Amino acid sequence: MTLSQTRFVTTSHAVDLAALPRDFVWGTATSAYQIEGAVDEDGRAPSIWDTFSRTPGAVDGGHNGDTACDHYHRWQEDIALMKELGTNAYRFSVAWPRVVPGGDGPVNAKGLDFYDRLVDGLLAAGIAPSVTLYHWDLPQALQDRGGWPERATAEHFASYAGLVAGRLGDRVTEWATLNEPLCSAWIGHLEGRMAPGLTDLTAAVRASYHLLLGHGLATAAVRAAAPGARIGIVNNLSTIEPATAGDADRAAARRMDGHVNRWWLDPVHGRGFPADMREVYGVDLPERPDDLDVIGAPLDWTGLNYYFPQTVTADPDGPAPHARQIDRPGVPRTGMDWEVDASGIETLLMRLTDEYGARRIHVTENGSSYPDAVAPDGSVHDPERAAYLTAHLAACARAARRGAPLAGYYAWSLLDNFEWAYGYDKRFGLVHVDYPTQRRTVKSSGRHYAEVIAAHRAR
Ligand code: FCB
Repeated sequence: MTLSQTRFVTTSHAVDLAALPRDFVWGTATSAYQIEGAVDEDGRAPSIWDTFSRTPGAVDGGHNGDTACDHYHRWQEDIALMKELGTNAYRFSVAWPRVVPGGDGPVNAKGLDFYDRLVDGLLAAGIAPSVTLYHWDLPQALQDRGGWPERATAEHFASYAGLVAGRLGDRVTEWATLNEPLCSAWIGHLEGRMAPGLTDLTAAVRASYHLLLGHGLATAAVRAAAPGARIGIVNNLSTIEPATAGDADRAAARRMDGHVNRWWLDPVHGRGFPADMREVYGVDLPERPDDLDVIGAPLDWTGLNYYFPQTVTADPDGPAPHARQIDRPGVPRTGMDWEVDASGIETLLMRLTDEYGARRIHVTENGSSYPDAVAPDGSVHDPERAAYLTAHLAACARAARRGAPLAGYYAWSLLDNFEWAYGYDKRFGLVHVDYPTQRRTVKSSGRHYAEVIAAHRAR
Protein backbone atom coordinates (compact mmCIF):
# COMPACT_ATOMS: atom_id res chain seq x y z
CA MET A 1 0.00 0.00 0.00
CA THR A 2 1.38 3.40 -0.93
CA LEU A 3 1.49 6.32 1.45
CA SER A 4 -1.30 8.18 -0.34
CA GLN A 5 -3.55 5.11 -0.10
CA THR A 6 -2.70 4.88 3.57
CA ARG A 7 -3.77 8.46 4.13
CA PHE A 8 -6.98 7.75 2.33
CA VAL A 9 -7.70 4.70 4.45
CA THR A 10 -6.95 6.36 7.75
CA THR A 11 -8.74 9.61 7.06
CA SER A 12 -11.74 8.27 5.21
CA HIS A 13 -13.46 7.50 8.50
CA ALA A 14 -12.88 10.70 10.42
CA VAL A 15 -13.73 10.21 14.08
CA ASP A 16 -16.31 12.63 15.47
CA LEU A 17 -14.29 13.30 18.61
CA ALA A 18 -16.78 15.86 19.86
CA ALA A 19 -19.28 13.03 20.35
CA LEU A 20 -17.08 11.46 23.03
CA PRO A 21 -17.26 12.82 26.56
CA ARG A 22 -14.43 15.02 27.83
CA ASP A 23 -13.47 12.43 30.46
CA PHE A 24 -13.42 9.63 27.90
CA VAL A 25 -11.33 6.63 28.88
CA TRP A 26 -8.62 5.90 26.31
CA GLY A 27 -7.09 2.57 27.13
CA THR A 28 -5.28 -0.51 25.98
CA ALA A 29 -6.02 -4.06 27.10
CA THR A 30 -4.08 -7.26 27.78
CA SER A 31 -4.56 -10.44 29.82
CA ALA A 32 -2.31 -12.24 32.25
CA TYR A 33 -1.56 -15.51 30.48
CA GLN A 34 -1.06 -13.76 27.16
CA ILE A 35 1.71 -11.42 28.36
CA GLU A 36 3.12 -12.23 31.80
CA GLY A 37 5.29 -15.30 31.30
CA ALA A 38 7.06 -16.27 34.56
CA VAL A 39 4.71 -19.21 34.89
CA ASP A 40 6.83 -20.96 37.51
CA GLU A 41 7.89 -17.92 39.44
CA ASP A 42 7.06 -16.68 42.93
CA GLY A 43 4.62 -19.45 43.71
CA ARG A 44 2.36 -19.39 40.64
CA ALA A 45 0.75 -22.76 39.95
CA PRO A 46 -0.34 -24.07 36.52
CA SER A 47 -3.58 -22.94 34.94
CA ILE A 48 -5.67 -24.82 32.40
CA TRP A 49 -3.84 -22.88 29.69
CA ASP A 50 -0.45 -24.19 30.83
CA THR A 51 -1.92 -27.67 30.51
CA PHE A 52 -3.75 -27.05 27.24
CA SER A 53 -0.77 -25.46 25.54
CA ARG A 54 1.23 -28.59 26.31
CA THR A 55 -1.35 -30.83 24.69
CA PRO A 56 0.08 -31.94 21.34
CA GLY A 57 -1.62 -30.15 18.46
CA ALA A 58 -3.66 -27.79 20.65
CA VAL A 59 -1.75 -24.58 19.92
CA ASP A 60 -0.21 -23.58 16.60
CA GLY A 61 3.55 -24.04 16.54
CA GLY A 62 3.41 -25.79 19.94
CA HIS A 63 3.63 -22.32 21.52
CA ASN A 64 2.80 -21.60 25.17
CA GLY A 65 2.78 -18.73 27.64
CA ASP A 66 5.94 -19.71 29.53
CA THR A 67 7.72 -16.49 28.60
CA ALA A 68 5.15 -14.58 26.52
CA CYS A 69 6.05 -10.86 26.67
CA ASP A 70 7.92 -11.31 29.94
CA HIS A 71 5.66 -8.60 31.31
CA TYR A 72 6.07 -10.01 34.83
CA HIS A 73 9.58 -8.56 34.71
CA ARG A 74 9.10 -5.76 32.19
CA TRP A 75 5.93 -4.16 33.55
CA GLN A 76 7.65 -0.84 34.18
CA GLU A 77 8.79 -0.60 30.58
CA ASP A 78 5.24 -1.49 29.52
CA ILE A 79 3.74 1.27 31.64
CA ALA A 80 6.16 3.68 29.96
CA LEU A 81 4.79 2.53 26.59
CA MET A 82 1.22 3.21 27.74
CA LYS A 83 2.33 6.67 28.70
CA GLU A 84 3.99 7.17 25.36
CA LEU A 85 0.68 6.36 23.67
CA GLY A 86 -1.05 8.94 25.85
CA THR A 87 -3.56 6.45 27.25
CA ASN A 88 -5.22 7.16 30.57
CA ALA A 89 -6.39 3.63 31.41
CA TYR A 90 -5.15 0.05 31.22
CA ARG A 91 -7.24 -3.09 31.35
CA PHE A 92 -5.33 -6.15 32.57
CA SER A 93 -6.28 -9.39 34.24
CA VAL A 94 -5.16 -10.91 37.49
CA ALA A 95 -3.95 -14.50 37.24
CA TRP A 96 -5.97 -16.53 39.72
CA PRO A 97 -3.22 -19.26 39.82
CA ARG A 98 -0.70 -16.62 40.88
CA VAL A 99 -2.83 -15.35 43.74
CA VAL A 100 -4.53 -18.52 44.96
CA PRO A 101 -2.46 -21.26 43.35
CA GLY A 102 -4.74 -24.08 44.44
CA GLY A 103 -7.89 -22.26 43.33
CA ASP A 104 -9.06 -22.16 46.92
CA GLY A 105 -7.08 -22.30 50.14
CA PRO A 106 -3.75 -20.63 50.79
CA VAL A 107 -3.08 -17.19 49.37
CA ASN A 108 0.23 -16.54 47.62
CA ALA A 109 1.39 -13.18 48.98
CA LYS A 110 4.01 -12.78 46.25
CA GLY A 111 1.35 -13.10 43.59
CA LEU A 112 -0.77 -10.35 45.12
CA ASP A 113 2.34 -8.22 45.57
CA PHE A 114 2.96 -8.23 41.82
CA TYR A 115 -0.45 -6.70 41.08
CA ASP A 116 -0.03 -4.29 43.96
CA ARG A 117 3.20 -2.96 42.40
CA LEU A 118 1.59 -2.83 38.97
CA VAL A 119 -1.37 -0.79 40.26
CA ASP A 120 0.91 1.64 42.07
CA GLY A 121 3.06 2.01 38.95
CA LEU A 122 0.03 2.70 36.79
CA LEU A 123 -1.37 5.29 39.16
CA ALA A 124 2.00 7.02 39.39
CA ALA A 125 1.94 7.28 35.58
CA GLY A 126 -1.59 8.74 35.59
CA ILE A 127 -3.12 5.58 34.13
CA ALA A 128 -6.29 4.18 35.70
CA PRO A 129 -6.17 0.42 36.29
CA SER A 130 -9.16 -1.64 35.15
CA VAL A 131 -8.95 -5.14 36.59
CA THR A 132 -10.45 -8.25 35.01
CA LEU A 133 -10.65 -11.05 37.54
CA TYR A 134 -10.92 -13.98 35.15
CA HIS A 135 -9.45 -14.05 31.67
CA TRP A 136 -9.56 -17.85 31.12
CA ASP A 137 -6.68 -19.03 33.31
CA LEU A 138 -8.48 -21.30 35.76
CA PRO A 139 -6.11 -22.90 38.29
CA GLN A 140 -5.50 -26.44 37.05
CA ALA A 141 -6.17 -27.70 40.59
CA LEU A 142 -9.81 -26.63 40.20
CA GLN A 143 -10.05 -28.19 36.74
CA ASP A 144 -8.88 -31.41 38.36
CA ARG A 145 -11.90 -31.14 40.65
CA GLY A 146 -14.31 -30.64 37.74
CA GLY A 147 -13.75 -27.01 36.73
CA TRP A 148 -16.58 -24.70 35.67
CA PRO A 149 -19.15 -27.48 35.22
CA GLU A 150 -19.06 -27.70 39.05
CA ARG A 151 -20.82 -25.18 41.28
CA ALA A 152 -17.93 -25.07 43.76
CA THR A 153 -15.76 -23.35 41.12
CA ALA A 154 -18.15 -20.38 41.10
CA GLU A 155 -17.94 -20.18 44.88
CA HIS A 156 -14.13 -20.33 44.86
CA PHE A 157 -14.08 -17.64 42.20
CA ALA A 158 -16.08 -15.33 44.47
CA SER A 159 -13.66 -15.89 47.37
CA TYR A 160 -10.69 -15.15 45.15
CA ALA A 161 -12.45 -12.04 43.75
CA GLY A 162 -13.15 -10.71 47.24
CA LEU A 163 -9.55 -11.32 48.20
CA VAL A 164 -8.15 -9.37 45.23
CA ALA A 165 -10.65 -6.55 45.72
CA GLY A 166 -9.70 -6.40 49.40
CA ARG A 167 -6.08 -5.86 48.43
CA LEU A 168 -6.43 -3.54 45.43
CA GLY A 169 -9.84 -1.95 45.98
CA ASP A 170 -8.44 1.08 47.79
CA ARG A 171 -6.82 2.09 44.47
CA VAL A 172 -8.76 0.31 41.73
CA THR A 173 -12.26 1.51 40.86
CA GLU A 174 -13.05 -0.39 37.65
CA TRP A 175 -13.58 -4.14 37.99
CA ALA A 176 -14.71 -6.78 35.52
CA THR A 177 -15.63 -10.22 36.77
CA LEU A 178 -15.30 -12.38 33.62
CA ASN A 179 -13.82 -11.88 30.21
CA GLU A 180 -15.90 -13.45 27.44
CA PRO A 181 -17.53 -16.33 29.29
CA LEU A 182 -18.77 -17.45 25.86
CA CYS A 183 -15.23 -18.54 24.98
CA SER A 184 -14.71 -20.36 28.27
CA ALA A 185 -17.99 -22.25 27.94
CA TRP A 186 -18.60 -22.75 24.23
CA ILE A 187 -15.09 -22.78 22.78
CA GLY A 188 -13.48 -24.44 25.83
CA HIS A 189 -16.13 -27.06 26.62
CA LEU A 190 -18.12 -27.55 23.40
CA GLU A 191 -15.79 -26.86 20.48
CA GLY A 192 -12.61 -27.95 22.25
CA ARG A 193 -10.47 -25.25 20.64
CA MET A 194 -9.55 -23.60 23.93
CA ALA A 195 -8.73 -24.84 27.42
CA PRO A 196 -9.85 -27.16 28.88
CA GLY A 197 -10.42 -28.61 25.41
CA LEU A 198 -13.68 -30.52 25.92
CA THR A 199 -16.39 -31.27 23.36
CA ASP A 200 -19.29 -32.00 25.68
CA LEU A 201 -22.57 -30.07 25.45
CA THR A 202 -23.69 -30.92 28.99
CA ALA A 203 -20.36 -29.78 30.44
CA ALA A 204 -20.52 -26.64 28.30
CA VAL A 205 -24.01 -25.64 29.41
CA ARG A 206 -23.20 -26.34 33.05
CA ALA A 207 -19.98 -24.32 32.67
CA SER A 208 -21.93 -21.41 31.17
CA TYR A 209 -24.33 -21.45 34.11
CA HIS A 210 -21.59 -21.57 36.74
CA LEU A 211 -19.54 -18.89 35.01
CA LEU A 212 -22.50 -16.53 35.21
CA LEU A 213 -23.23 -17.60 38.77
CA GLY A 214 -19.56 -16.94 39.55
CA HIS A 215 -19.96 -13.50 38.01
CA GLY A 216 -22.90 -12.76 40.30
CA LEU A 217 -21.24 -14.13 43.43
CA ALA A 218 -18.01 -12.27 42.63
CA THR A 219 -19.94 -9.04 42.08
CA ALA A 220 -21.27 -9.26 45.60
CA ALA A 221 -17.85 -10.22 46.98
CA VAL A 222 -16.11 -7.29 45.28
CA ARG A 223 -18.82 -4.88 46.46
CA ALA A 224 -18.41 -6.10 50.02
CA ALA A 225 -14.61 -5.80 49.91
CA ALA A 226 -14.41 -2.51 47.99
CA PRO A 227 -17.52 -0.39 48.43
CA GLY A 228 -16.40 2.20 45.85
CA ALA A 229 -15.92 -0.41 43.11
CA ARG A 230 -17.63 -0.08 39.74
CA ILE A 231 -18.32 -3.58 38.49
CA GLY A 232 -19.08 -4.93 35.05
CA ILE A 233 -18.82 -8.03 32.90
CA VAL A 234 -17.09 -8.30 29.53
CA ASN A 235 -18.89 -10.08 26.71
CA ASN A 236 -17.81 -10.57 23.13
CA LEU A 237 -20.86 -9.96 21.00
CA SER A 238 -21.45 -10.19 17.28
CA THR A 239 -24.07 -8.86 14.94
CA ILE A 240 -25.82 -11.87 13.38
CA GLU A 241 -27.42 -11.86 9.95
CA PRO A 242 -29.04 -14.79 8.12
CA ALA A 243 -27.28 -15.89 4.93
CA THR A 244 -30.57 -15.84 3.03
CA ALA A 245 -34.10 -14.63 3.68
CA GLY A 246 -35.29 -18.25 3.87
CA ASP A 247 -37.00 -19.52 7.02
CA ALA A 248 -34.27 -22.04 7.87
CA ASP A 249 -31.49 -19.43 7.78
CA ARG A 250 -33.53 -16.91 9.70
CA ALA A 251 -34.24 -19.45 12.42
CA ALA A 252 -30.52 -20.34 12.42
CA ALA A 253 -29.62 -16.67 12.86
CA ARG A 254 -32.02 -16.44 15.78
CA ARG A 255 -30.39 -19.49 17.40
CA MET A 256 -26.90 -18.11 16.81
CA ASP A 257 -27.97 -14.81 18.33
CA GLY A 258 -29.18 -16.77 21.36
CA HIS A 259 -25.92 -18.71 21.57
CA VAL A 260 -23.56 -15.77 21.13
CA ASN A 261 -25.47 -12.81 22.53
CA ARG A 262 -28.70 -13.43 24.45
CA TRP A 263 -27.51 -16.39 26.55
CA TRP A 264 -24.92 -14.06 28.09
CA LEU A 265 -26.81 -10.77 28.16
CA ASP A 266 -30.28 -11.80 29.31
CA PRO A 267 -29.36 -13.42 32.66
CA VAL A 268 -27.07 -10.60 33.78
CA HIS A 269 -29.81 -8.11 32.96
CA GLY A 270 -32.28 -9.91 35.20
CA ARG A 271 -34.15 -11.68 32.41
CA GLY A 272 -33.12 -15.25 33.11
CA PHE A 273 -31.81 -17.70 30.53
CA PRO A 274 -33.54 -17.48 27.12
CA ALA A 275 -36.27 -20.14 26.91
CA ASP A 276 -35.67 -20.87 23.22
CA MET A 277 -32.00 -21.65 23.87
CA ARG A 278 -32.77 -23.91 26.82
CA GLU A 279 -34.78 -25.93 24.35
CA VAL A 280 -32.03 -25.87 21.71
CA TYR A 281 -29.46 -27.15 24.23
CA GLY A 282 -31.84 -29.58 25.92
CA VAL A 283 -29.61 -29.71 29.00
CA ASP A 284 -31.03 -29.18 32.50
CA LEU A 285 -29.51 -26.13 34.14
CA PRO A 286 -28.08 -26.76 37.63
CA GLU A 287 -30.44 -24.10 39.00
CA ARG A 288 -31.08 -23.32 42.63
CA PRO A 289 -33.54 -20.82 44.07
CA ASP A 290 -32.19 -17.25 44.19
CA ASP A 291 -29.43 -17.93 41.65
CA LEU A 292 -31.08 -15.71 39.05
CA ASP A 293 -31.16 -12.80 41.49
CA VAL A 294 -27.45 -13.27 42.16
CA ILE A 295 -26.65 -13.47 38.44
CA GLY A 296 -28.88 -10.51 37.61
CA ALA A 297 -27.59 -8.11 40.29
CA PRO A 298 -27.44 -4.62 38.73
CA LEU A 299 -24.14 -3.76 37.06
CA ASP A 300 -22.29 -0.46 37.07
CA TRP A 301 -21.15 -0.90 33.49
CA THR A 302 -21.21 -3.31 30.58
CA GLY A 303 -18.13 -4.33 28.62
CA LEU A 304 -18.29 -4.95 24.88
CA ASN A 305 -15.57 -6.80 23.02
CA TYR A 306 -16.16 -6.53 19.31
CA TYR A 307 -14.15 -8.07 16.51
CA PHE A 308 -16.38 -9.24 13.63
CA PRO A 309 -19.94 -9.70 12.39
CA GLN A 310 -21.44 -13.09 11.58
CA THR A 311 -23.54 -14.25 8.66
CA VAL A 312 -25.04 -17.64 9.43
CA THR A 313 -26.81 -20.52 7.77
CA ALA A 314 -28.69 -23.51 9.16
CA ASP A 315 -26.54 -26.52 10.05
CA PRO A 316 -29.05 -29.13 11.21
CA ASP A 317 -26.45 -31.88 11.63
CA GLY A 318 -23.87 -29.68 13.38
CA PRO A 319 -23.59 -29.23 17.14
CA ALA A 320 -25.82 -26.78 19.05
CA PRO A 321 -26.91 -24.21 18.05
CA HIS A 322 -27.20 -26.03 14.67
CA ALA A 323 -26.11 -22.93 12.80
CA ARG A 324 -22.78 -22.00 11.31
CA GLN A 325 -21.00 -18.91 10.12
CA ILE A 326 -20.38 -18.51 6.40
CA ASP A 327 -17.92 -16.31 4.55
CA ARG A 328 -19.29 -13.31 2.70
CA PRO A 329 -17.40 -12.94 -0.55
CA GLY A 330 -15.63 -9.66 -1.16
CA VAL A 331 -15.60 -8.49 2.46
CA PRO A 332 -12.15 -7.43 3.71
CA ARG A 333 -10.60 -9.70 6.32
CA THR A 334 -7.90 -9.43 8.96
CA GLY A 335 -5.00 -11.82 9.43
CA MET A 336 -7.32 -13.93 11.62
CA ASP A 337 -9.59 -14.27 8.59
CA TRP A 338 -12.18 -12.27 10.53
CA GLU A 339 -14.44 -10.00 8.47
CA VAL A 340 -13.91 -6.28 8.92
CA ASP A 341 -17.20 -4.46 9.42
CA ALA A 342 -17.05 -1.45 11.73
CA SER A 343 -20.78 -0.85 11.56
CA GLY A 344 -21.19 -3.91 13.82
CA ILE A 345 -19.74 -2.10 16.82
CA GLU A 346 -22.23 0.73 16.39
CA THR A 347 -25.13 -1.70 16.07
CA LEU A 348 -24.08 -3.57 19.21
CA LEU A 349 -23.55 -0.39 21.24
CA MET A 350 -27.07 0.67 20.29
CA ARG A 351 -28.45 -2.76 21.14
CA LEU A 352 -26.91 -2.63 24.61
CA THR A 353 -28.36 0.85 25.03
CA ASP A 354 -31.85 0.36 23.62
CA GLU A 355 -32.60 -3.29 24.32
CA TYR A 356 -30.69 -3.80 27.57
CA GLY A 357 -30.84 -0.30 29.03
CA ALA A 358 -27.07 -0.10 29.62
CA ARG A 359 -26.19 2.94 31.69
CA ARG A 360 -22.46 2.94 31.07
CA ILE A 361 -20.57 1.00 28.42
CA HIS A 362 -16.88 0.39 27.88
CA VAL A 363 -15.57 -1.08 24.66
CA THR A 364 -13.23 -3.35 26.57
CA GLU A 365 -11.58 -4.86 23.47
CA ASN A 366 -11.43 -4.11 19.77
CA GLY A 367 -8.52 -4.60 17.43
CA SER A 368 -7.04 -6.52 14.54
CA SER A 369 -4.27 -8.90 13.66
CA TYR A 370 -2.24 -8.44 10.51
CA PRO A 371 1.08 -10.00 9.50
CA ASP A 372 3.28 -7.03 10.35
CA ALA A 373 6.47 -6.49 8.44
CA VAL A 374 9.44 -5.12 10.34
CA ALA A 375 11.38 -2.68 8.14
CA PRO A 376 15.17 -2.92 7.98
CA ASP A 377 15.38 0.13 10.26
CA GLY A 378 13.27 -1.72 12.83
CA SER A 379 10.10 0.33 12.34
CA VAL A 380 6.71 -1.30 11.86
CA HIS A 381 4.32 0.35 9.45
CA ASP A 382 0.83 -1.18 9.80
CA PRO A 383 -1.68 1.00 7.95
CA GLU A 384 -4.36 -1.71 7.90
CA ARG A 385 -4.45 -1.83 11.71
CA ALA A 386 -4.62 1.96 11.89
CA ALA A 387 -7.49 1.94 9.39
CA TYR A 388 -9.34 -0.73 11.38
CA LEU A 389 -8.88 1.32 14.54
CA THR A 390 -10.08 4.55 12.97
CA ALA A 391 -13.12 2.96 11.34
CA HIS A 392 -14.18 1.37 14.62
CA LEU A 393 -13.58 4.53 16.65
CA ALA A 394 -15.66 6.43 14.11
CA ALA A 395 -18.45 3.89 14.55
CA CYS A 396 -18.19 4.22 18.35
CA ALA A 397 -18.51 7.98 18.05
CA ARG A 398 -21.61 7.56 15.86
CA ALA A 399 -23.17 5.40 18.55
CA ALA A 400 -22.29 7.98 21.19
CA ARG A 401 -24.01 10.63 19.04
CA ARG A 402 -27.06 8.40 18.93
CA GLY A 403 -27.17 8.23 22.72
CA ALA A 404 -25.05 5.21 23.67
CA PRO A 405 -23.52 5.91 27.11
CA LEU A 406 -20.04 5.08 25.90
CA ALA A 407 -17.47 5.89 28.57
CA GLY A 408 -14.31 4.30 27.22
CA TYR A 409 -12.45 2.36 24.56
CA TYR A 410 -9.62 -0.10 25.21
CA ALA A 411 -7.64 -1.12 22.15
CA TRP A 412 -6.71 -4.78 21.95
CA SER A 413 -3.88 -4.95 22.49
CA LEU A 414 -1.08 -2.93 24.00
CA LEU A 415 1.45 -5.57 22.90
CA ASP A 416 1.68 -8.42 20.45
CA ASN A 417 1.11 -11.45 22.64
CA PHE A 418 0.17 -15.13 22.97
CA GLU A 419 -2.98 -15.36 20.88
CA TRP A 420 -4.34 -18.53 22.53
CA ALA A 421 -4.66 -21.46 20.12
CA TYR A 422 -2.98 -19.40 17.40
CA GLY A 423 0.21 -18.89 19.38
CA TYR A 424 2.51 -15.94 18.68
CA ASP A 425 2.08 -15.66 14.92
CA LYS A 426 -1.08 -13.57 15.17
CA ARG A 427 -0.12 -10.07 16.24
CA PHE A 428 -2.71 -7.67 17.65
CA GLY A 429 -0.41 -5.15 19.33
CA LEU A 430 -0.13 -1.42 18.89
CA VAL A 431 3.40 -2.21 20.02
CA HIS A 432 5.45 -4.84 18.23
CA VAL A 433 7.28 -7.43 20.32
CA ASP A 434 10.37 -9.15 18.97
CA TYR A 435 10.09 -12.28 21.10
CA PRO A 436 13.73 -13.48 21.04
CA THR A 437 14.99 -10.12 22.33
CA GLN A 438 11.72 -8.87 23.95
CA ARG A 439 12.35 -5.57 22.20
CA ARG A 440 9.22 -3.40 22.01
CA THR A 441 8.61 -1.04 19.06
CA VAL A 442 5.59 1.22 18.82
CA LYS A 443 3.92 0.50 15.46
CA SER A 444 2.60 3.29 13.26
CA SER A 445 -0.92 2.27 14.39
CA GLY A 446 0.19 2.99 17.96
CA ARG A 447 1.32 6.44 16.91
CA HIS A 448 -1.96 6.91 15.13
CA TYR A 449 -3.89 5.99 18.29
CA ALA A 450 -1.74 8.47 20.24
CA GLU A 451 -2.67 11.18 17.72
CA VAL A 452 -6.38 10.47 18.05
CA ILE A 453 -6.12 10.60 21.84
CA ALA A 454 -4.14 13.84 21.73
CA ALA A 455 -6.64 15.40 19.30
CA HIS A 456 -9.52 14.50 21.62
CA ARG A 457 -7.71 15.93 24.60
CA ALA A 458 -6.88 19.15 22.75
CA ARG A 459 -10.53 19.86 22.03
C1 FCB B 1 -10.61 -11.96 22.57
C2 FCB B 1 -9.87 -12.26 23.85
C3 FCB B 1 -8.50 -11.68 23.90
C4 FCB B 1 -7.79 -11.74 22.58
C5 FCB B 1 -8.66 -11.21 21.47
C6 FCB B 1 -8.02 -11.21 20.12
O1 FCB B 1 -11.55 -12.94 22.32
O2 FCB B 1 -10.60 -11.77 24.95
O3 FCB B 1 -7.80 -12.34 24.93
O4 FCB B 1 -7.33 -13.01 22.34
O5 FCB B 1 -9.83 -11.95 21.41
